[in-house]
Amino acid sequence: MKTIQSDNYPIYFEDSKAELVKFIKAGNYSRFFILTDENTAVHCLPAIKDQLGDMDNYDLIEINAGEESKDIDFCIGIWKMLIDFGADRKSLMINLGGGVISDMGGFAASTFKRGIDFVHVPTTLLSQVDASVGGKTGIDIDSIKNIVGTFTQPKAVFIAYDFLKTLPQRQILSGLAEMLKHGLIMDAAYWNTLKTSDLSQPSEELIHWSIEIKNKVVIEDPTEQSIRKALNFGHTIGHAVETNSLLTDKNPLTHGEAIAIGMICEAYLAHKKTGLSSNELAEIVEVINGLYPKYPLKETSYEVLLALMMKDKKNQSGKINCTLLDRIGQCNLDNICTDAELCESLSYYIGLQ
Ligand code: GLY
Repeated sequence: MKTIQSDNYPIYFEDSKAELVKFIKAGNYSRFFILTDENTAVHCLPAIKDQLGDMDNYDLIEINAGEESKDIDFCIGIWKMLIDFGADRKSLMINLGGGVISDMGGFAASTFKRGIDFVHVPTTLLSQVDASVGGKTGIDIDSIKNIVGTFTQPKAVFIAYDFLKTLPQRQILSGLAEMLKHGLIMDAAYWNTLKTSDLSQPSEELIHWSIEIKNKVVIEDPTEQSIRKALNFGHTIGHAVETNSLLTDKNPLTHGEAIAIGMICEAYLAHKKTGLSSNELAEIVEVINGLYPKYPLKETSYEVLLALMMKDKKNQSGKINCTLLDRIGQCNLDNICTDAELCESLSYYIGLQ
């Protein structure tokens, strides 16, 4: 599969683990650090260690898996370990994991000694098609996602398809939501291909195509002044639903499950506000509801959800801002939505069979 060239960095697909080792050697780094969580330490690190052979100028940093780790305390822990291990400005951070690892590892690296190099080796579908591309780094504060962070590009991304083979189906579905989003906002042909594909284990070609779409957007607008806002489709409502679920549910929604709900609600808003046809709204609902279990959203949570949406970093002048669709394959940026409209869209989701 062809290497994709992003904003000054390559995204490798072929022999990615061997490419990683070549990259480390060519970079002449004084030392490198591999950031993992307890899952990737077991399932992915051994394959990387095999490739490293007798290289020994590295240390491992492990954090707990899960969004709860993506906060300032864990980040301070990473900085302290870098200090203890003697990291200098010519050190490299290798983020081996899902979105929590790439967001927080990227943030820790981009701020340590005013910035050291980092690369991503994304191990989940979600991080392969989303978090690892585009240079967003960040941590959460008080459960507000990515509220502190930087735009700093990695030096390279290494996509290893075989890491997905050990992923639970729920994690595959989580990444799939972002792939569906890429089709909906930008590429009707991709959406149509997804609709007719076996999505229980998306092919490497579909992943490559998804990353091409995202990459095109982030190259055009790396700091989200304009077209990159397209990637927020489904996320204004989805992030609020996700945060609320994390705070209240015993078995919280995954990111993709929450974004799937957000995409249905925001497709409804698009139908109301930006001309998405009723046929296309019905098609989006059918595809998404065919893939994701129905979530028991409650009217009693609207107030909390609206309060969470108000804290979204994409808002301007205290107004809640959504990316909507004109039609499948074409987005419509910067739509202010009122509380009443947002609640109506949540009720639309609740009312679906
Ligand atoms: N995940 C959305 C973005 O990278 O802009």
